[in-house]
Amino acid sequence: MNIHQPQYVNGHGLLKGRSVLITAAAGAGIGFSAAKRAVEEGCRSIVISDVHEGRLQAAVEQLRADTGLEQVAGKLCNVADEEQVQALIAFAEDFCGGVDVLINNAGLGTTKALIDMEDAEWDRVIDVTLGGTMRMTRQMMRTMKTRGEGVIVNNASVLGWRAQKEQSHYAAAKAGVMALTRCAALEAAEFGVRINAVSPSLAVHPMLKKSAPEDLLAELEGREAYGRGAEVWEVANVMIFLASDYSSYLTGETISCSSQRA
Ligand SMILES: NC(=O)c1ccc[n+]([C@@H]2O[C@H](COP(=O)([O-])OP(=O)(O)OC[C@H]3O[C@@H](n4cnc5c(N)ncnc54)[C@H](O)[C@@H]3O)[C@@H](O)[C@H]2O)c1
Repeated sequence: MNIHQPQYVNGHGLLKGRSVLITAAAGAGIGFSAAKRAVEEGCRSIVISDVHEGRLQAAVEQLRADTGLEQVAGKLCNVADEEQVQALIAFAEDFCGGVDVLINNAGLGTTKALIDMEDAEWDRVIDVTLGGTMRMTRQMMRTMKTRGEGVIVNNASVLGWRAQKEQSHYAAAKAGVMALTRCAALEAAEFGVRINAVSPSLAVHPMLKKSAPEDLLAELEGREAYGRGAEVWEVANVMIFLASDYSSYLTGETISCSSQRA
């Protein structure tokens, strides 16, 4: 097997008949890829959400065109806003007739040395990345509890474990996502809901290439044993595994998607 040229994995029905909700799914990265993989794995309906209105509509159309699934809806949501989170989950519950799988993909960062960090920048990264995951998880747990089933998959980052300069806010937020995953999973286990997280190291996509300095990306790719970042769908595949019955005895865990040691 040539590990440098992974083959796209076709669907095996891992999410057959399920309904799925994904945040931050209108970008060029992991979120949209996870939506596509979920449909390819047989989900019956899907709601994709994002804070960017124009890209969201385009993503809905793209997903329908790529997969042929009609039961696709888009709903604007800034995960930093509690009202919008509640409206998103109410919409998705209604559209899908109950959400089986929630993928909390939303998270963002900046590059800033701690000594230059303003409170506003720290707060924004924490509020979207950790606060958004908490708000979505809390509201989804409330509705999943009434049905006594459901799965939540959070998107963390290896920076939740590992140090990198100019990433203290983002790393702190992602470490928080891992802790939230562990603690919420204990509570959710009491009513039949599983919660896990994926922790990617690097998944290169066009938007990341635009925003991250070229030399930093090259350095990060160089740290990978495979000599490359993951394809976004390789991270999405781990999410699909965590969302599927193949991970039925797994909760509160964070799984690294990386070719280097955590
Ligand atoms: N790409 C990587 O190398 C990498 C590595 C580790 C972790 N992650 C995590 O993976 C997730 C996805 O990142 P990605 O780089 O694959 O991009 P992505 O395309 O999956 O996500 C970007 C999208 O997030 C949306 N978004 C931003 N703020 C939002 C908000 N407040 N509410 C709702 N949506 C919002 C943007 O509009 C954009 O469409 C993030 O949580 C990120 O921290 C990514």
